[in-house]
Amino acid sequence: MNVQVTIGSLILPNPLTVASGTFGYGVEYGGLINAGTLGAIVTKTITPVPRTGNRPSRLWETPSGLLNSIGLENVGLERFITEKIPPLESYPCPVIVSIMGETEEGFARLTERLDGCGRVDGLELNLSCPNIAYHGGGLIAQDPEAVGAVVAAVRKKTKKAVIAKLTPEVSDISAIGRAAEAAGADAIALINTIKAMAIDVETRRPRLGNVTGGLSGPAIRPVAVRLVWELFQAVRIPIIGMGGIATCEDALEFIIAGASAIAVGTYIFVDPQAVTAIPDDICDYMKKHRMKDIRELVGSVQVQ
Ligand SMILES: Cc1cc2nc3c(=O)[nH]c(=O)nc-3n(C[C@H](O)[C@H](O)[C@H](O)COP(=O)(O)O)c2cc1C
Repeated sequence: MNVQVTIGSLILPNPLTVASGTFGYGVEYGGLINAGTLGAIVTKTITPVPRTGNRPSRLWETPSGLLNSIGLENVGLERFITEKIPPLESYPCPVIVSIMGETEEGFARLTERLDGCGRVDGLELNLSCPNIAYHGGGLIAQDPEAVGAVVAAVRKKTKKAVIAKLTPEVSDISAIGRAAEAAGADAIALINTIKAMAIDVETRRPRLGNVTGGLSGPAIRPVAVRLVWELFQAVRIPIIGMGGIATCEDALEFIIAGASAIAVGTYIFVDPQAVTAIPDDICDYMKKHRMKDIRELVGSVQVQ
């Protein structure tokens, strides 16, 4: 049974990955998860210089979801290279590093530096964090031209797998996806969180120090499945689907909608070990449905 996923020059042994920002820099989860069961890990987004993130409170649980306004707190490029990459040397699955450079030059510089690091197997471009203002207050992923410019700038600097991570907050995901594909992206990751807000009615103050945050978890899953399905009809490169995945059935929904791989994010905080059963459970489903290759399943939704 073949469940391998090819993303540019990178081969994932199975379609299960973890979503950036929910798995630290990888090593922190060493004792909690058998990384040998994962198709790849994606590390917390790093920026050219360290960021302390947004003021607290930065997490608020909602019905069926989680609001976060972390604000890309991270150790910055240089500390990532000296402190976080070495422990990943013997990691049993591919390592994809998420980066955010604000401008195309910033993304290109991060890429140039990380391209020389052996253990960095691919790059995910975070073009879609709702918790920080850049690109004139909007998100890069809301502007097809800006997406194309950043992806092209990165593509010039590396042959490693390049993944463009997009936002659900657009009216036409196809146009954004096509811009990323045309500029040389090897895959698209979808969706980042949805900008949202919660209020304490007694104090009449927002629940988050940053006022707004990004909503993740089961509440956003149908939105994410719809976007993956729309994007699948517009691009030929693989899609890594995410948004509220906790079980094999959730993962299958994304794959049948058009995702070649999937990522688990918020559910890692609930039960990190449970997600490692997903690849075997996908194989059981394929056996039951007499499929030999996961590609038979990708985008196989019957809409007629
Ligand atoms: C606490 C938290 C931190 C996150 N940090 C990042 C990040 O640094 N970079 C990024 O691209 N996405 C980040 N995300 C978004 C996730 O990678 C993912 O796209 C989103 O949460 C949807 O998946 P989920 O519902 O399974 O969590 C973060 C999400 C959460 C909950």
